[in-house]
Amino acid sequence: MTENDVKTEPEIELRRNFVSAMRRLIATVTIITAGDASARAGMVATAVMSVSADPPSLVVGINREATVWQAVKDTGRFSVNLLATHHAPLVYPFSGQLQGEERFTLGEWHAHTSQTPYLADAIVSLFCRVDSALDYGTHTLFVGAVDDIRLSAAANEPLLWRNGSFANAVPLDELLES
Ligand SMILES: Cc1cc2nc3c(=O)[nH]c(=O)nc-3n(C[C@H](O)[C@H](O)[C@H](O)COP(=O)(O)O)c2cc1C
Repeated sequence: MTENDVKTEPEIELRRNFVSAMRRLIATVTIITAGDASARAGMVATAVMSVSADPPSLVVGINREATVWQAVKDTGRFSVNLLATHHAPLVYPFSGQLQGEERFTLGEWHAHTSQTPYLADAIVSLFCRVDSALDYGTHTLFVGAVDDIRLSAAANEPLLWRNGSFANAVPLDELLES
């Protein structure tokens, strides 16, 4: 441990409050993948944000210790797969319960023309080329220039992550009607 790792009591409290605050930031659950058939990597991520439609671009936040981070670095590409509620059983395996290729035994995974794996029945799969990267703290923010998109025709419900567990989105109109 270095001197910089030692936190004061106020810093510890700020960190604790930050974690609590982020548990209130509801997000769609995604699986970010990279690599090709010879070495696939994928992990669950909620740190995904649209950047711009001109050009179509998004940003993902990936911990530099995650295996997918190296695959993104090596190939300069990644895909973002938005999960539906029926994909909940993939979440813990893709966030540490299973490792490497074992993760891809769950769900139907195909190879895009760019070789990047994608989830066949994801609500949306976005295919990106890394255009920019910024290291901050433990993570790297990768800006992806989107060069292909697969939109599912099925009207599946998005899988949300809320306060450390799964949730689904109910349109407010439907709630008010019932
Ligand atoms: C709901 C949820 C959201 C997550 N979001 C992120 C994220 O946005 N970025 C990140 O680096 N890790 C995120 N993680 C943690 C990674 O999925 C987890 O650390 C993963 O095991 C790292 O991959 P590895 O085991 O291949 O190293 C999230 C985990 C969960 C359960």
